[in-house]
Amino acid sequence: MERIKIVIGTKVWDDVQRLERALSEIPEMQIVAGPTTASGVFADATEMEADIVLLSPTLPGFRPELVSELLHYDERPIACIGLLPPLESRTDELLALGMKGHVSLPLDDAQLRRLLELIPNAVTQARAERASSSYVALDTPTLYTLAEAGWRRMVIALWGTGGGVGKTSLAINLAAALGVIGQRTTLLMDLDMTRGAVAPRLGLSPKENIYGLINTLLLDYLRTRNASCPPQTLQTKVQLWNTRLASKLHCLSGIASMEVAGRAEFRDDPHRTQALTRAIIDTARKLYDFVIIDLGPDINNDVHFAALDAADLVLTVVRPDVADMHSTGQTVPRLKQTFGEGIGKFELVINQWSTETGLKLKDVISTIGMKKFAQVPYDPQFTYSNNHQMPFVLEKPNPTSDAIVSMAVRFYPPLANTWVSRGGQIEGEAAAFKPPERRKEPGLWQQVQSVFVGK
Ligand SMILES: Nc1ncnc2c1ncn2[C@@H]1O[C@H](COP(=O)(O)OP(=O)(O)O)[C@@H](O)[C@H]1O
Ligand SMILES: [Mg+2]
Repeated sequence: MERIKIVIGTKVWDDVQRLERALSEIPEMQIVAGPTTASGVFADATEMEADIVLLSPTLPGFRPELVSELLHYDERPIACIGLLPPLESRTDELLALGMKGHVSLPLDDAQLRRLLELIPNAVTQARAERASSSYVALDTPTLYTLAEAGWRRMVIALWGTGGGVGKTSLAINLAAALGVIGQRTTLLMDLDMTRGAVAPRLGLSPKENIYGLINTLLLDYLRTRNASCPPQTLQTKVQLWNTRLASKLHCLSGIASMEVAGRAEFRDDPHRTQALTRAIIDTARKLYDFVIIDLGPDINNDVHFAALDAADLVLTVVRPDVADMHSTGQTVPRLKQTFGEGIGKFELVINQWSTETGLKLKDVISTIGMKKFAQVPYDPQFTYSNNHQMPFVLEKPNPTSDAIVSMAVRFYPPLANTWVSRGGQIEGEAAAFKPPERRKEPGLWQQVQSVFVGK
């Protein structure tokens, strides 16, 4: 068997000596470097092809994220075991970032023995994780780092009871703001089961789409009875938008025609369709900083329902139109019944806003009874952009794109500077937005599933 290559990252001379002595007696293990700074640890471990770092947080320049950066190092995983001083306060944080175990200092015989057992286990575990089909580069660790930076990854659904209210237009433009202007990896998913509108609006191939994805996943589901979406499968169905611009906007096309939504793959088994939709969104959540989902109006559709349930935030789009207001208001009791406290994640976007409609904003909001998230002015040029496959926010800034980008800034505040430097304006207290806490309770769907499985 190949020897385990070890980097010792501590400045405590006594510990280094003890480790060197102990390890020299084990032929399967080899010390390859003993750096004395945190940046030295990363450089040595990657250069010397180390398998594991015995890491002390007292090293100069130490940052907890070093643990996840090593574990998710591109070429191969480098596991970490902490050499922790007594009363180290960051132990939980380090474990959350992927540290595979720890011993406490000083290294007495008992701690040393434990350490020698931990080393091969940590290496095996890190390799197994990397080899697993569900491995996702920088999963929880990125989440964690991003939370510190004042934003976090989010799944945002665009929904509304009306047709033509602007769900797709807002989905495309929010996704372009985040993925092209903001340069965050973003996945725009067309899960509207009434019509796939993202592909024609962005000039994407309709060939690879949600229907094909569900079909592929179905093969495994029918064999295993387990709904899962391997990252590679999702990625083969996803297209990068417009490679001529620096773009991190990826798209999953929707159904090619309405009839597809009625096919057996979607309709035969509601439980299965919901579980597969959920699995797709869960995988997307791990792969992308932002997932923007374009939905159709019908909440009884299984794909729509699962997406509404999985999303962290549902932007409910209405026009200043009494019929829109009425139908949206009518669904609120049903949403409350279904989502309980989760109804808080439904927020209102009044799109195509204009005072010429003869309605007052406050009346629109109070009629519907949902918290306002934003209002987006009507602009006849918007449809021109849609028809020319160019997201409106990528054109010269104007009050309508200001409003949409201001929404995106609430998810990703650094976007504000970029937009202003392009000549745009950011509205209101955009930067003060606190993303809603991700639900800690199992989602409604998991509850339903557990009842189902329990039967
Ligand atoms: N803020 C706006 N100003 C002007 N036109 C808009 C605006 N938002 C959307 N539109 C237009 O309204 C129409 C319907 O929009 P769409 O995004 O397809 O709605 P939905 O997805 O809700 O059916 C499109 O022609 C679109 O260009
Ligand atoms: Mg639409």
